Amino acid sequence: MPLLKVTIDNIEVEVEAGTTIMNAARKIGGSVVPPAMCYYSKLEGSGGYCRTCLVKVSQGSFKDNRPMPKLVASCRTPVQDGMVVQNRTSPEVMDNRRAITEFLLINHPLDCPVCDQAGECHLQDLSYEHGLEETRTEEDRRTFDPIDIGDLIKLHMNRCILCYRCVKVADQITDNRVHGVLGRGDHSEISTLIQKAVDNDFSGNMIDVCPVGALTDKTFRFKSRVWFTRPFDAHRECAKCCGKTVLWMKGEEILRVTGRKDQYGELEEFICNDCRFHHKETTDWIVEGPRKIERHSVISQNHYEKLDIPENGEESE
Ligand code: SF4
Ligand code: SF4
Ligand code: FES
Repeated sequence: MPLLKVTIDNIEVEVEAGTTIMNAARKIGGSVVPPAMCYYSKLEGSGGYCRTCLVKVSQGSFKDNRPMPKLVASCRTPVQDGMVVQNRTSPEVMDNRRAITEFLLINHPLDCPVCDQAGECHLQDLSYEHGLEETRTEEDRRTFDPIDIGDLIKLHMNRCILCYRCVKVADQITDNRVHGVLGRGDHSEISTLIQKAVDNDFSGNMIDVCPVGALTDKTFRFKSRVWFTRPFDAHRECAKCCGKTVLWMKGEEILRVTGRKDQYGELEEFICNDCRFHHKETTDWIVEGPRKIERHSVISQNHYEKLDIPENGEESE
């Protein structure tokens, strides 16, 4: 099949038919890539909810060179041959992103100082780049009664941006979905039917896909700010998953275990709850070396050249 030519922020790239604007931009990389709060390439049908990825199509294709009348969701719109797209080069897109950020924050508690997601939160990054300095609303923020969804995962619904990623993880990765979005409009909330615990084997991945601090690891709760921990790539033989993880350590102690995330904050591979929650001894793991964090300004500051790697690991730079 012939490749399609698309130009994004004046950079040309060739992609296969059916590729979305978002994935064409990811092929180029860097600042051309729109932010994504709900799209997740490993989850089918994700995207189309948050509107942070809207871009301007200033030429539809070689055949029809008219611009598209409205901004389009780059995570859901396939490219056409000859399409010209503007992301950062369009003032309209930047204005819109500011507005979407403000909208996402209208009901958000902004309790970053006590939120375990701080330092690796996509909403924090978005607010830092596009947020207003002051709020323009004075109404009370919408709040939800806390509900308990089990021993391992903490749901803080007030922070949820309804991106649906956790619902798709439960649908596609676990074999037993017990939670979903209940209600509609501003009554929508993530909930479990009759408060059943979310305890299936791969449910912990919901924590990793959640772009904000609405789903966090109960076993790590309030143990440390993430930028005071040191991430190491590690692996173990696991019958259920790939066993490839990141250990977040303080001294010799493993404070939490997560999957490995790429530059877009997406998991390279999903991991099972056994690896995530039940192997917190350094002897459980073969430590490969320090993890390079590709995104998030705060935790990627925590560089270290030479370090004391736990006993069964190999020394590396
Ligand atoms: S979810 Fe993100 S923006 Fe919201 S309180 Fe937590 S760290 Fe702050
Ligand atoms: S809990 Fe997190 S992953 Fe689930 S819909 Fe809310 S923000 Fe998205
Ligand atoms: S990332 Fe495209 S709409 Fe959310």
